[in-house]
Amino acid sequence: MIRLTNITRTPVFPEAPGRIGVFDSGYGGLTILNGIRRHLPEYDYLYLGDNARAPYGSRSFDLVYRFTFEAVKTLFRHGCHLVILACNTASAKALRTIQQNDLPRMDAHRRVLGVIRPTVEEITCSPSTSHVGILATPGTVQSRSYSLEIEKLDPGINVTEVACPLWVPLIENNEAHSPGADYFVKKYIDILLDRDPEIDTIILGCTHYPILMDKIRQFTPEGIRIIAQGDLVGRSLADYLTRHPEMERLCSKGGSVEFLTTENEEKFNALAELFLHHPISSSHIEIL
Ligand code: DGL
Repeated sequence: MIRLTNITRTPVFPEAPGRIGVFDSGYGGLTILNGIRRHLPEYDYLYLGDNARAPYGSRSFDLVYRFTFEAVKTLFRHGCHLVILACNTASAKALRTIQQNDLPRMDAHRRVLGVIRPTVEEITCSPSTSHVGILATPGTVQSRSYSLEIEKLDPGINVTEVACPLWVPLIENNEAHSPGADYFVKKYIDILLDRDPEIDTIILGCTHYPILMDKIRQFTPEGIRIIAQGDLVGRSLADYLTRHPEMERLCSKGGSVEFLTTENEEKFNALAELFLHHPISSSHIEIL
């Protein structure tokens, strides 16, 4: 008779290791990729920017979900087992459906992670945080994802969310450092501080916004902590891989990065340099 107790229950992962997929609607995810690579330089990465259909920030839930899911499936087809949605709008509008409905049906071993949860964990573990301001795209603000996640972890924190619809176009048009940008950077910070003058922490809840960091600091009163997501997402991913050795084994290690864009490669290369501070060479991809 076969004794079932002797059968090993270790999950089987027959596939070869693949690169870690990093997805964004466009360029903003490059700030997250930078942060991830600072903490985890040994892994291989495949970055996908859906620049042809960006910005996502003002698009409907259904469309952001559909575009994001198509991108995730593309990264899976390129051998990624783990995909990071390095976009707050996609994390807010698509992550939960992909994690709860799509992955269990498609492939229970692959994983998709977002950037909102690690950001919220970072601020709720700090005892000095009690009034948080979220600056993000209209889509992320409309989803109330930050308010809901913070409420779950620390209902005592007061959250104020303000949409900054003009910040992404400023950055994408290479106007982030121009004097003309000052007016629009100040405008949304003033709106936030008018709504809650006791703000002690501001989360840059859009992956593009660290590019405006100098100006954001310039117009924010001293003493207010400003949180960009790159490093904290890197730390959180390092922690995730330590806690999930079965996934860590599926992430190839060679220290490489490849860039894919749904737009024109030359255009992507030129603006990506603003985010990465070094030249790159991307390839065009269709993700339909
Ligand atoms: N990267 C997106 C985010 O973090 C902003 C850009 C867009 O609107 O597509 O929300």
